[in-house]
Amino acid sequence: MPVTLVVGAQWGDEGKGRIVDYLAAGADGVARFGGGANAGHTVRVGDKTYKLRIVPSGVIAGVASIIGPGTVVSPAALVKELTDLEAAGIDTSSVWLSDLAHLILPYHIELDRASERARGDVKIGTTGNGIGPAYGDRVARIGIRAGDLRDERAWRATLAARCAALASAGISVDDGAIAAELSAQAKVLLPHVRDTIGLLNNLLRDDKRIIAEGAQGSMLDVGLGTYPFVTSSVTVAGGAGAGLGIGPTRIDSVVGVAKAYATRVGGGPFPSELNDATGEKLREIGGEIGTVTGRPRRCGWLDLAALRYAVDINGMTHLAITKLDVLDTFDRIGVCTAYKAAPDVSVPFAIAQGAPCETTYMPGWKTSIGDARTWEDLPAAARDYVSFVEQSAAIPVSYVSVGPERSQIIVRAGAPLRVPATVR
Ligand code: GDP
Ligand code: IMO
Ligand code: MG
Repeated sequence: MPVTLVVGAQWGDEGKGRIVDYLAAGADGVARFGGGANAGHTVRVGDKTYKLRIVPSGVIAGVASIIGPGTVVSPAALVKELTDLEAAGIDTSSVWLSDLAHLILPYHIELDRASERARGDVKIGTTGNGIGPAYGDRVARIGIRAGDLRDERAWRATLAARCAALASAGISVDDGAIAAELSAQAKVLLPHVRDTIGLLNNLLRDDKRIIAEGAQGSMLDVGLGTYPFVTSSVTVAGGAGAGLGIGPTRIDSVVGVAKAYATRVGGGPFPSELNDATGEKLREIGGEIGTVTGRPRRCGWLDLAALRYAVDINGMTHLAITKLDVLDTFDRIGVCTAYKAAPDVSVPFAIAQGAPCETTYMPGWKTSIGDARTWEDLPAAARDYVSFVEQSAAIPVSYVSVGPERSQIIVRAGAPLRVPATVR
């Protein structure tokens, strides 16, 4: 069986984790293809809430969880995450870290913070996890990979050389302390480090279903997003093959996840942002506080212009609309239908130039939908809203979530994966 790919359709935090958790119950493995501990993926099962950073969300459903070659991994963050998951009763023995994944070391975090400081007033607002500098080292061919941990003498030499180069550039780091920490972390991590490419391709050859888990969102893609206010990895569907070591022919469906409204955390343009009481209300009801940094998320109406762009650049086949319940109390619901921008200007440039949104309003449903489990359970105005999104984006909305808990999801006919309740 092939790969179902899940990507964020907006600026991250769309609810990818909860959608992956749902799909994982009907799959044999989940594999993260990019990013690092800048991600925060929340899974709520009953009254338990899990916040995943680099470990794939499939670990909660208990399937093989692969951290792919396209990720950047902080040994400190991963050791903590594995320890926390075990303490919460989650088995981490099937978490596999690609030996090709690059390591984030303390100097990457220092460099991340230093480059933000150097930006003055126009900050990207990174999560401060060293993501950009670690990817920078990877393309500069001076990084250290998880597989390098197998040979302590060799990685110590590489680390010393890297720290010496940093020192000569005026950045002093304590390489002795880093090496001592890394040596201890390696002991915990090495049992998880392996060739994940062979593992994944063998699973696919054996007709197993894999969920490829995206991190961040399409508008944060390093090349296709709202540059420079983006992350440093390829977040769109095209990154999954290179980020996992599989070919594009293995992917048979691309599920884009979008909130029923829009949020952004960090700096950069955000066309449908509401800097008013309505934006505040979305933030409050939606609990829009960053999972990783605790920063309040900026909120606005759903941006269909950006969503159509995300559908195109990912080749999305299906949409999952999350957090529809957050709109329960609104009298009317706005949607940005288009930007007033010159033709022949790409979407990221139109956004950067501050193209205003054309906004239209739909009637609210003014009732609680958290208990809806079928399309027919939804009030007509909620169905109309989702249908409007579906028509504007020109792809089916196959999943609608109406609350954070695992069971609070409506799966519509035509969905690429439907997990029987008995399995969940
Ligand atoms: P991710 O990074 O895309 O996985 O998303 P995050 O976990 O960062 O943010 C999504 C937040 O919304 C989390 O707190 C989820 O528990 C919550 N959430 C997800 N789906 C729903 C939903 O349908 N309704 C509500 N009210 N909350 C949801
Ligand atoms: P998930 O997977 C939301 C944002 C940061 C910042 C920019 C660059 O949970 O959806 P970075 O630390 O990556 O160099 O920061 O990208 N960002 C995210 N925003 N959700 C995320 O991940 C994000 N990961 C990075 O806020 O604006
Ligand atoms: Mg998140």
